[in-house]
Amino acid sequence: MRIIGKDNFLDELEKTRKDFQSDYYAMYSSVLDGIVKDPVCMMVPIDDHIVHRGDGIFEAFNCFEGKIFNLEGHLKRMEASCRLLEYDMPFSIAEMTDIIKTTVFEGGHKDCTVRPYVSRGQGSFGVNPYDCKKSNFYVVVTKRIPFFMDRHPAGALVALSKFPPKKDIFARSKNCNYIVNVMMKKEAVDSGVDFVVSVSEDGYVAEGSTENIGLINQDNWLLFPEIDGVLAGTTMLRAMALGQELVGRGVLSGVAFAKLEPKDFECAKEVMMVGTTLNVTSVCSFCDKGVSGGKPGAISKMLNDMLFDDIYGNDELATNCF
Ligand SMILES: Cc1ncc(COP(=O)(O)O)c(C=O)c1O
Repeated sequence: MRIIGKDNFLDELEKTRKDFQSDYYAMYSSVLDGIVKDPVCMMVPIDDHIVHRGDGIFEAFNCFEGKIFNLEGHLKRMEASCRLLEYDMPFSIAEMTDIIKTTVFEGGHKDCTVRPYVSRGQGSFGVNPYDCKKSNFYVVVTKRIPFFMDRHPAGALVALSKFPPKKDIFARSKNCNYIVNVMMKKEAVDSGVDFVVSVSEDGYVAEGSTENIGLINQDNWLLFPEIDGVLAGTTMLRAMALGQELVGRGVLSGVAFAKLEPKDFECAKEVMMVGTTLNVTSVCSFCDKGVSGGKPGAISKMLNDMLFDDIYGNDELATNCF
């Protein structure tokens, strides 16, 4: 076995470079107190509990034409996740905003995806969070992949997952313990559908692996599963606010959270998956049954268009990084 020391570490690191890493634009690390732009130098210490225990909080959001969409919504949820799982915030929201804006700017791409992480910190290889001296903060800026509907205009196929939903604070915080979500994504890929959604012990639909699910029922109500058992998706909350505008225009009858069973989705007028990486995605098939005639529904398309207008035109939700 070779022993790698400080004198040859950088040469060895260079040999690990992979083509796909050219999609990684910049990384901030509070450990280094700085930004690295070379992907092979984007590292997290292995004794940070985020690595060996999944003991961390994260967020994911997009930057369009140099402006981050709804940064405040994401950082407020990050703060709420930290509160739920009793993390010390390493920085104030204002400081995090500055670090994120600078990392995006240094990444040099006006269209990108940003993922900040708060970790429990370094201190041991055990499970005890009190071993950690202080929380760390990392920000990774990467290429943004096109939205689902741009890649699959015919809409999404959705099935039920065999994995149970997370519960309570573990569902309501966006924490790095994503093994259930990973297995749900694998299940979707293995079974040839785009998304699977979990169902609680008492028979109610919860959410997808990294997305919320909603429906428009036969009475024209836009409904999402009750918020207590799912992550409060920033896209879902925005879609609900935009849905209120459609109530005002007489397109929808109302917008609400509700207890929803799989059969409610099977007989819905429209079904949609919503999330940062997919915006409002129309579902054309739920559990092998066609939804809205097997085509993307008109109202979900309308909501998606409204969200795009928001992303590109709503200055109140835009944070300029350039
Ligand atoms: C479990 C889960 N549910 C829902 C969402 C959707 O949240 P958002 O719309 O803020 O991306 C995510 C996002 O990553 C998620 O991980």
